[in-house]
Amino acid sequence: MSLAVVSLCVVLALSPCALASGDGNGNGKPLVTAITKDAATSLYTVPIKDGHPLVIDLSGALVWTTCDASHPTMECHHHFCMHAHSYHPPDCPHNGYGHADEEDPFRCKCTAHPFNPFSGESATADLTRTAVTSCAPESLLAKLPAGTVGVAGLARTRLALQAQIARAQKVANKFALCLPSDGEGIAIFGGGPLFLLPPGRPDVTAALAGETPLHKNKDLPGYFITATKIAVNQEQVQLYSQEPLVVELCSRIPYTVLRPDVYRAVIDAFDKATAGRKRVTPAAAPFALCYDSRELGSTRLGYAVPQIDLVLEGGKNWTVFGGNSMAQVSDGTACLALLEMKGEKGSPPPPAVVIGGFQMENNLMVFDEEKARLGFSGLLWGRQTTCSNFNFTLAA
Ligand SMILES: *[C@@H]1O[C@H](CO)[C@@H](O)[C@H](O)[C@H]1NC(C)=O
Ligand SMILES: *[C@@H]1O[C@H](CO)[C@@H](O)[C@H](O)[C@H]1NC(C)=O
Repeated sequence: MSLAVVSLCVVLALSPCALASGDGNGNGKPLVTAITKDAATSLYTVPIKDGHPLVIDLSGALVWTTCDASHPTMECHHHFCMHAHSYHPPDCPHNGYGHADEEDPFRCKCTAHPFNPFSGESATADLTRTAVTSCAPESLLAKLPAGTVGVAGLARTRLALQAQIARAQKVANKFALCLPSDGEGIAIFGGGPLFLLPPGRPDVTAALAGETPLHKNKDLPGYFITATKIAVNQEQVQLYSQEPLVVELCSRIPYTVLRPDVYRAVIDAFDKATAGRKRVTPAAAPFALCYDSRELGSTRLGYAVPQIDLVLEGGKNWTVFGGNSMAQVSDGTACLALLEMKGEKGSPPPPAVVIGGFQMENNLMVFDEEKARLGFSGLLWGRQTTCSNFNFTLAA
């Protein structure tokens, strides 16, 4: 399989994406594309590389795909080359900004370090000028969903997909993500409006339930927010540390992971709050608390279980209801889908909470780089809709 390099503009034109109309004030058109969840890996993909899917990665600094050998390259002093080097994947050899061009030894060819977070492999590849995607060897596709051709990094860097679209399409450097639990979700690069079915509903991006400041982490390019408290069943969980909690949003992992001290406290509180419920023991790995799902009862927000609130900086709550907390592991069993963080003793210290894909599904999120804010709708089931209910014809 050898894929030609296609410029970003051509990628956009050939892909099954819809361009929403501009606002009539000379501003550009947002790019709208479907998001699919891969059942085998629980990763989310967008079909934007010549119709082929790329895995979306909120913590990824670059866009990389496989390319053929004759792709054009970029010179080392180009500012994109510098940006490509702002983040270096773990365990990747430092071999400078570039290497001599095979045909013109006086020309320095930019190298970048595309990183596959799913296999932990990195490779040295060169950054092509036309697509501003990093060309990577096919071996880097290991552990990605079948049929995907690379990774679209969406982190807070100049070479992430949304930043490139913002420059190419002259739209705002922000994007909305609505990850599906099944069916097709939606991503809008450049902002809303976003209308979900049934027709006649107001723009969801204009009716977000909350927002909170985004923070930068000097070592990692992803999205960080701050929580001041955690509550289970509206009762504050007593945590070992009184420090505010650093929370990262991460589309690479299926379920939220918590630092061991936070995990213990939340699991104990949930255990207590569900004392009367019929358990399934032993719990289905990797989870700690599982229940007989036929006895849980349901609401329009999912199983009737205690809600978990992350009280965020600014005072709004990211509330996790049954629909985002309970994973159906088999016909009669649902488990609290939180996991304990492993290898937390690193330096720099890892976040206290890393919110994974399952906890973000059917919750519209707006990542606004210009305002450095994250907006969120809360579980859309509460509005009798889901991320798969987008009417694509409305955006055309
Ligand atoms: C946020 O959650 C906490 C804990 O459950 C609750 O006390 C508080 O009233 C909630 N705040 C808002 C704005 O809903
Ligand atoms: C989607 O929107 C179009 C245009 O407004 C409308 O004709 C169509 O019926 C809508 N589709 C659904 C499934 O509501």
